[in-house]
Amino acid sequence: MEQELMRIGVSLPDNLLTKFDSIIKERGYSSRSEGIRDAIRSYITYYEWMGDIRGRRVGTITLIYDHTKRGLSNAIADAQHEYTSLIKSSIHLHMDHQNCLEVIILDGEAEDIRKLDEKLMSLKGVKFVKLNTAPPAEKL
Ligand code: NI
Repeated sequence: MEQELMRIGVSLPDNLLTKFDSIIKERGYSSRSEGIRDAIRSYITYYEWMGDIRGRRVGTITLIYDHTKRGLSNAIADAQHEYTSLIKSSIHLHMDHQNCLEVIILDGEAEDIRKLDEKLMSLKGVKFVKLNTAPPAEKL
């Protein structure tokens, strides 16, 4: 059965929309709506995948953020200090005048990894977050 389509209004920064439009054009989408539907599906898939990981995992969280954003560096550090038993190491790279890349190496319960990932994703000024996890060595 055909799904009923709902209309939504979304406010986006100009540069984000410009980039999105150039990607959907490059990928041959017929409309912005089609691209947005696909992006939402990917987001849901990622979220569901995150919800499916269980038990002890090892992994990394890679994030890129704007360190000039007031309070953000502190908020990122605070989030990591809440999960010291989970975080084994981290690498920080000052990418350019504005942006930092951080890779956090984790070993612990999936539930905690997910909470830290969600916390980092929710911070304003964080431009990119990517979680990767694997089972611990004895389960490979
Ligand atoms: Ni930096």
